[in-house]
Amino acid sequence: MKNVKIAIIGLGTIGNGVLNLLTKERELIKQRQKVDIEIKYAIDKDENKLNHITSKDIVKTKDYKLAINDKEIDIIVELIGGTNFAYTLIKESLENGKNVVTANKALLAEKGLDLFKLGEEKGKTIGFEASVCGGIPIIRTIFDALAGDKIKGIFGIVNGTTNFILTKMYEENISFHTALKEAQKLGFAEADPTLDINGTDAAHKIAILGQIAFNSPIDFGCVYIEGIQHIELEDIKNADELGYILKLLAIAKLDPDNSIEVRVHPCLVSKENLLASVRNEYNAVFLESEYFGNSLYYGKGAGAFPTATAVVGDIIEIAKGKSHTKLKHISNHPVKDIGEIESRYYIRFLVPDKPGVLSKISGVFAENNISIASLIQKERSKEKYVPLILTTHPAREKNIKNALDNIERFDFSKKRGVMIRLIDD
Ligand code: HSE
Repeated sequence: MKNVKIAIIGLGTIGNGVLNLLTKERELIKQRQKVDIEIKYAIDKDENKLNHITSKDIVKTKDYKLAINDKEIDIIVELIGGTNFAYTLIKESLENGKNVVTANKALLAEKGLDLFKLGEEKGKTIGFEASVCGGIPIIRTIFDALAGDKIKGIFGIVNGTTNFILTKMYEENISFHTALKEAQKLGFAEADPTLDINGTDAAHKIAILGQIAFNSPIDFGCVYIEGIQHIELEDIKNADELGYILKLLAIAKLDPDNSIEVRVHPCLVSKENLLASVRNEYNAVFLESEYFGNSLYYGKGAGAFPTATAVVGDIIEIAKGKSHTKLKHISNHPVKDIGEIESRYYIRFLVPDKPGVLSKISGVFAENNISIASLIQKERSKEKYVPLILTTHPAREKNIKNALDNIERFDFSKKRGVMIRLIDD
């Protein structure tokens, strides 16, 4: 039996999930894995958060130094979040010879390179399965299960808050703001959901997955990020008629020119695509790999127990001497500028219903080497301006932007065309 002593730092939702799961299932883990996990410290700067812990065997303190200086402690479980103090804590923990388990995606995506390097130097592991998609074992899958495979693309719905909001907009015909309020009322969105709805949370996750899949460093500043805050119900309804559902996708893809695309943005996904059926707060990651082919991983990406299962899985692996989560950068793929990507596009203009307008628009598309795949004008007899909706064949994004700029400059233009990228199956 391996005995491992841990300190949990940060007793918020996930910290309590880990505490409860380990308290309830300690015997089961012993029987299954021959690992006995003992929580020696519960640490939080707000001591009120420790009052409910009744076990006399757990030291309750706000002083994290007690744990990192305690020779008996094998693993520091960092669950405080944020990128400042958490960075210091993990750095000091590794320097003091401790392994670390964390759910902190922002920290790893933005400042992870230094920490992984330090871990390597010290021969210590940073377990971070919980940082991406909560309970879905996607890091372990890419790292271990597909160790002999080559990932070509990752397409993920990796943010539950935005998926919940988009599902409500689509199914209940409500605006973004109404859906956001509903999500907050039901506890699926934070009081301050900024980082979720503006795509940053998803970008942190895809930056981490991309680094593992392509063994290449990814500068977080190079990740293209667009959120869902400007999505209009009208486009969700138009897309539905065209056979598409709007999702916030996180994409990392290896291109034939050896560059990687790493991007987060709203995307119209064909109803035939498996990701189209992922509803509400659920997450899913679709992998394209050379030998296994296509595979899909689905489950809850947030919440106390789903995330705690990933934390506990990492603790057990470290206790058993596995260090699967050491990030290896053996390649250096440049991140492609968003203007250089190729995609299909949905575009909606609001235009006056009069002679010559369509010909001017299609002329600009032709000049920019963009081929129109479908075109619908919605007739509205009483209104001066009518929606003109078109989809394109694959085109270069910078050409699309150029075309939209040029069309916006025409006298008849009321506002810039809405552009959303399309993905088929
Ligand atoms: N806020 C995230 C989400 C969960 O809505 O999916 C934590 O990463």
